[in-house]
Parts: sequence; structure tokens; C-alpha cells
Amino acid sequence: MSADLPDSLRPDTLAVHTGIHRSEANEMSEGMFLTQGYAYDSAEQARDAFAGDIDIYMYSRYANPTVTAFQERLAAIEGAESCFATSTGMSAVFVALGSILGSGDRLVAAKALFGSTLQTFANFFDKWGIVIDYVDGNDPAEWERALSTPAKAVYIESPTNPMQDVLDIPAIARLCKQAGALFIVDNVFATAIGQKPLELGADAVVYSATKHIDGQGRVLGGAILGSADYVEGPVKLMVRNMGATISPFNAWVLLKGLETLAVRVRHQAASALELATWLDAHPKIRVARYPLHPSHPQHDLAVSQMSLGGTLVTLDLDLGPDVDVAGPEAQAAAFRFMNALRLFTCSNNLGDAKSISTHPATTTHNKMSPEGRAEVGISETTVRLSIGLEDVEDLKEDLERALAHV
Ligand SMILES: Cc1ncc(COP(=O)(O)O)c(C=O)c1O
Repeated sequence: MSADLPDSLRPDTLAVHTGIHRSEANEMSEGMFLTQGYAYDSAEQARDAFAGDIDIYMYSRYANPTVTAFQERLAAIEGAESCFATSTGMSAVFVALGSILGSGDRLVAAKALFGSTLQTFANFFDKWGIVIDYVDGNDPAEWERALSTPAKAVYIESPTNPMQDVLDIPAIARLCKQAGALFIVDNVFATAIGQKPLELGADAVVYSATKHIDGQGRVLGGAILGSADYVEGPVKLMVRNMGATISPFNAWVLLKGLETLAVRVRHQAASALELATWLDAHPKIRVARYPLHPSHPQHDLAVSQMSLGGTLVTLDLDLGPDVDVAGPEAQAAAFRFMNALRLFTCSNNLGDAKSISTHPATTTHNKMSPEGRAEVGISETTVRLSIGLEDVEDLKEDLERALAHV
């Protein structure tokens, strides 16, 4: 943080006043350092920089002023000691775990996870001899069992993608301490505005910045936040050397995205709660899941650890008792609904200003086995809605019109 800012500032203020390092031009909007490298004053200075005797910018795979600004601002909003940016959310997930796990180490993970995270675990971590123990994230007995023996890391999403299960972060954090595990939370669905995993006891947080931090569907990016020991240690070592570095252009877009994150997410979350309430009561909807809606199975837990319920509503169409929710008729009904929507674009991003509809079973979670999907509650009737910045009444009318096709 800049030396002349009071240290009591709140996240909305930090979002526009941190990460600012003005050049001699005194620009208002943060400068973008679109450069791969930096000139040294002398061969001696280059030697000293490589030896680690002086701390200056050397090469943008190592560090870049625009990336530094993004990291500082996100760390300030999150209340984290340290932040390291990555090229994508998936490289953040990979590095958060890959930088500390080795052959024979135990990773305990909730089984409800984003599809590419599960693919990374199954195709690489498994092959490299990392022992992965999956648990039902909402079953305290399974957490007790899994963390009664030492583990190196614990990994969860809360709320989960796409079914929005809310996991008890403080309870899992207590068990992680006993097991000696580093507890990492993917906070993409909740956002830094709606949930603070580090305050709830987690050791580290990962983001796909591609989602709400950009918020306008422009660039890919990711971030890992936590203690300086972890982030400036294994995380930095791995990103710098394996090259999962974010581009300065993307970091600049995300830096500016952080300035409007809170207002966007609050608006989108208010619309999401209103739509979840309306959809949950709709005769063509079996259930509309939203963490802060009273019908959510972990509603009390969500209220206790989330200040906003996120910007997503996950619904299941009600096709009556005779339709197999895993069958082609169910899929056809979901597709008719999605194809009839005019304001919800069919896509697989989330957190965008534009509302988005996604059919998880055939897209984001299509590599999971049908049994695996059934186990976490994803069926052919499941549709994930990312609520954008449109007028909520227009979104409601769009959904009503499309539900007539079900
Ligand atoms: C919960 C969650 N984590 C991680 C990711 C990966 O992010 P990225 O697409 O930026 O690599 C996604 C992407 O959809 C996600 O939804």
C-alpha cells in the first residue's frame, strides 16, 4: 500500500487506491508496461540483479510493474499478505497445489470441483504419485476421517461449481490444522467481495480472474493469495520458472476490473437472489439453488460465512416424474430452454456483465462420468445461470418466455 494512505481503509477504497506507482508523467489511470524485459544501467547491475543482491525488474516472466500493481491491489482487497498472478485460473489451481505436492504426498479434496480441476488431478497429479483422497464436502464425518491422518494439502471450492454446495470453511480449517495440511479454497463463485476464506481459517485462496475480476469477458488470468512464505516461496518459484506468467496487458485489464468489482458483484448478486427466489417458486423449476436463498440446504452456513451469495443461480427444470433426468428427453428440454433465451447467451464463462446460460453436463463437466455427475447432483436438467448487469425485470421476462418452451 502507498505509504501515505491510512491503514484502516476498507476494500472498496483499497480497490481504487492501491497498486498505484505513477510514472514521471503522473498519469491518473495506471500505466501499462507492455515489455518483456528491462535495461540495466551496467553489466555490474545485471550481475547483481541475477545474484539476488538487488531487487529490480529483470524480465517479465519474473516480474512486471503492471502485474505487481494487480497483485498489490488484489492482495489489499482480499486482506492477504501476498498475491501472485498467473496466466489463467487453471494455472493458479495447478501451481497452488503443484508447487507444494510431490510423489507420495496426500491431497484431500472435495469431490465437487470444476471439471478442469478434476481433469488435472486425474491425468497428472495421480500419474505423479500424489495420493488423492476425495470426500463428500458436506459430510463432516468424511472430513473427520480423511483428516485424521496427515495430509499435505486440502482443496475445495465453496460454493461449488455448478451445484453451489456451501462447505464449512472454519470446520475444515480446524481439521486441516490437526492434519498439518495447507488449506486452499477456490473462491471464484463467492468472489473477494462476498467471502473471505483467509478470515475463515483457510491458508490460501485461488481465483480465476477471468471471471468476476475481469467481469466483461475480455481476458484470461488467475491469482494465488496467502502467506508471504507460501506465495513468495514455492508459488513464485514455480510460476517464474515454468512460465505460467500473466501478460502485462491482461494484468492491466484485471487491475482496472478490480476498481469496479464490488459495485458489479453487489448488483449482480442482488439480481441473482431475486431471480433465484422467483425461479424457485416457478412451476417449471424443480429447484433453483442460490446460497443465500432460504431453500438452500446449507443456507445457515452460507449466511454465517458469506456476505453476498454470488452471481450464479443453478436450476433444475421440473419435467415431471416420468422423465429420466439423465436421459435424452431431459437434455432436449434443457436445450430448448437455453436456445429460447435471448438475453442469457449460451457460453461457459461466468461473472460477466452479460448474463450467460451453461449446460454443465455437456460442457464444463462433460469429462466426468455420468455416475460422477449424478453423485454431485448434476443432471441433464441442470442449467447454470450467470447473472449479469442487465435490468432484472428484463432477465425475468426472458426466463419466463424461455420456460414456455419446456
Ligand atoms: C470454479 C473455477 N475454478 C477455476 C476455473 C479455471 O479458470 P480459467 O478458465 O481462468 O483457467 C474456473 C473456470 O471456469 C472455475 O469456474
